[in-house]
Amino acid sequence: MAIESTKYTKTAIILHWLIGLGIIFMFLFGWYMVDLPKDAPKAMSFDLFDLGIYTWRLNEEVSPRAFYFNLHKSVGITILGLIIFRIFWRLTHPAPALIKTMKAWEKKLAHTTHHALYLMMVLIPASGAAMAIYSKYGIKWFGIPLAEGLGNDTIRDIFKNAHINIGIILLVFLGLHILGALKHTFVNKDGTLKRMMLK
Ligand code: HEM
Repeated sequence: MAIESTKYTKTAIILHWLIGLGIIFMFLFGWYMVDLPKDAPKAMSFDLFDLGIYTWRLNEEVSPRAFYFNLHKSVGITILGLIIFRIFWRLTHPAPALIKTMKAWEKKLAHTTHHALYLMMVLIPASGAAMAIYSKYGIKWFGIPLAEGLGNDTIRDIFKNAHINIGIILLVFLGLHILGALKHTFVNKDGTLKRMMLK
């Protein structure tokens, strides 16, 4: 009889942390950029998030709002690609069974949260992409045109509301997921978190 693995594969572990941190970063990014003024002067170089760490240079002048919106779209499309690959990986490499000491209701809650997170992880970038396509700007991926803007404000606003509301739902499930991981680590001390660690 084959021995059942208790850990996720290396690829699944790397994708989990890369996408998890990427999504948290995208929330902070989204909240940062929507507050940028619409009438700020255009520039050709931007000190990324005013952190003094990296200056991004362009070959044309754009407003800070346009620069950060384009960057949010580019990073978001990249994360969507990683999420699609992650789902392919999950379907071809089944996750190890949840640990035996978990109660039935805990297993049910963990499974429901995992499925909801997968769904929301697809819906949040997909709704962002749809919003961008129906706006007048379209999508450029790091300067490469991917989709023309259709300029339909009514449909754009529907996807904009979806992007915001899916974000709220995703944050609720992310909160449950993190609380669950903390409970297993500090209350049950059952090694659940180690299953998602490289070492
Ligand atoms: C990958 C996951 C993503 C996350 C977690 C995310 C998150 C966010 C958040 C938190 C906001 C601010 C919403 C608000 O409070 O007003 C936002 C705005 C926005 N996002 Fe995303 N986003 C993601 C992907 C994308 C993608 C792929 C695109 C487009 C290709 C996109 C396009 C936009 C645009 C255009 C806005 C500004 C909406 C406006 O005020 O007009 N997002 N996003």
